[in-house]
Amino acid sequence: MSLLKRLQITNLRNLDNVSVALSPNINIFYGQNGSGKTSLLEAVALLGLGRSFRSHKIRTIIEHTQSDLTVFGELLNSNDRGTIGIQRARSGKNVIRVNGDNVQSAISLAQELPLQIINADAFLLLEGSSSQRKRFLDWMVFHVKPEFASAWKRLQRVIKQRNSALKHDKISYSDIALWDQEFIATSNTINQLRKNVLNDFKNSFYSNENKFSDLGFDVDISYKAGWNEEEDFGDILKSSFEKDIRSGYTNYGPHRADLKFKVGTQLASDILSRGQEKSLICSLHIAQAYLFSEATGKQCVFLIDDLLAELDIDNAKKLTKALISLKSQVFVTGIYKDNLLSVWDSSNSEDIEEVNINLFHVEHGDVQQKYC
Ligand SMILES: Nc1ncnc2c1ncn2[C@@H]1O[C@H](COP(=O)(O)OP(=O)(O)O)[C@@H](O)[C@H]1O
Ligand SMILES: [Mg+2]
Repeated sequence: MSLLKRLQITNLRNLDNVSVALSPNINIFYGQNGSGKTSLLEAVALLGLGRSFRSHKIRTIIEHTQSDLTVFGELLNSNDRGTIGIQRARSGKNVIRVNGDNVQSAISLAQELPLQIINADAFLLLEGSSSQRKRFLDWMVFHVKPEFASAWKRLQRVIKQRNSALKHDKISYSDIALWDQEFIATSNTINQLRKNVLNDFKNSFYSNENKFSDLGFDVDISYKAGWNEEEDFGDILKSSFEKDIRSGYTNYGPHRADLKFKVGTQLASDILSRGQEKSLICSLHIAQAYLFSEATGKQCVFLIDDLLAELDIDNAKKLTKALISLKSQVFVTGIYKDNLLSVWDSSNSEDIEEVNINLFHVEHGDVQQKYC
C-alpha cells in the first residue's frame, strides 16, 4: 500500500507554504476559482510523476517571485514509513529524493506513488492523439510486467539509431538490416506484453467487480500494434524502406501503436456527449486501478480535479462507489463543499462507514482543514 500521510508544498504557484495531514481515504478540497485547488493536485502529481500535468515549463509553476519550488510527502507504505520529495529550480536544477537519498530518475517516484489522474486533460484519452492512448496502455504494462521497462528502453534506442541511419545519403536496406534484427525482436516482445496486459485490462473493464462498468452504452476496445500483424514485420520493414527514407523516420512499429474506443460502429469521441465521455474516462481509470491492484497488491492514488464538472449525480456516485470499493486514497476538488460531500454517503455505499473523509477549504493559496 502506498499513500500519502502528509504533504508539504513550498512556492508552487500560489501555494507559498502549505502543510496538510491527509486521510488515507478521501481528501476533499473545495474553494473558489483560482484559490489553488488544481495546484494542490499538481503538487501531488509532481511527487508521483516528477513533472506537472499542466505545464512542461517549470518556470510557470514556480511562484513568480521565487527561484525554486519544493514538494515533500510522508508516505504510509509497507514499511510504514518513507518520504519522497522533489525540488525544481528556475536554473533547471532538479532534485528527487526517495527516503532521504537522491535518485536520478522519476521512475522511482512512479513506483512509490502510482497515480490515476482525472483532470481536464483526461479527455485527451478519447479526443487526443494516439500517443495519449499508448501512454495509458504502457502505464499498465510498465507496472504489471517488470520486463517491459528494459524492452521499452531498447526500443527507443534502436528507433533512434534506425532513424538517424535513414537520414544518411545513399543508404541501402542492407545498411539498416542489422538494426532491424534487434528492432523486430524488441517489437515482438513489446507487442506481446501489450496484448497480454490489454486482455487483462479488458477483463477488469467489463467485470462486475468494476462498479463503474455500467455506463448505459457498450464500449468496444481494440488494439493496433503499429503495423499490419497479418504480415511478417520483417517483410513490412523491407517493403517500407523507400517510404521510411523519404519521410526520414520509421513508419511502422510499436511506437505507432494505438487503442480504439468504439461505441457501436463509431469512435467514442465522435458520438458521446462530454458527460458520457467523462464517465467512460473515469471507468477506464477505475478499471486500470483494479488491474494494478490485482497484479501488484498495491493501490493507486487518485487525483480527480473538479469531480462534479460534467458528471451527473448518478455517475458521480458510481465513481465514488468504485473508489471506495478500491480502497484507494483519493484527492478530489470542486467549488462547493455540500455538493462534494453529498456524493459520499451511506445510501450509495455501505462501506462508507469505514471511510475517513478529510475536508479542506482552499482560499488564496491557504489550505485549512474543516470538520464535516
Ligand atoms: N507561477 C505562479 N506564481 C504565483 N501564482 C500563480 C502562478 N501560476 C498561477 N498562479 C495563480 O495560482 C492560482 C491558483 O490556480 P489554480 O490552482 O488553478 O486554482 P483553482 O484550481 O482553485 O481554480 C491562480 O489564482 C493563479 O493566478
Ligand atoms: Mg482548478
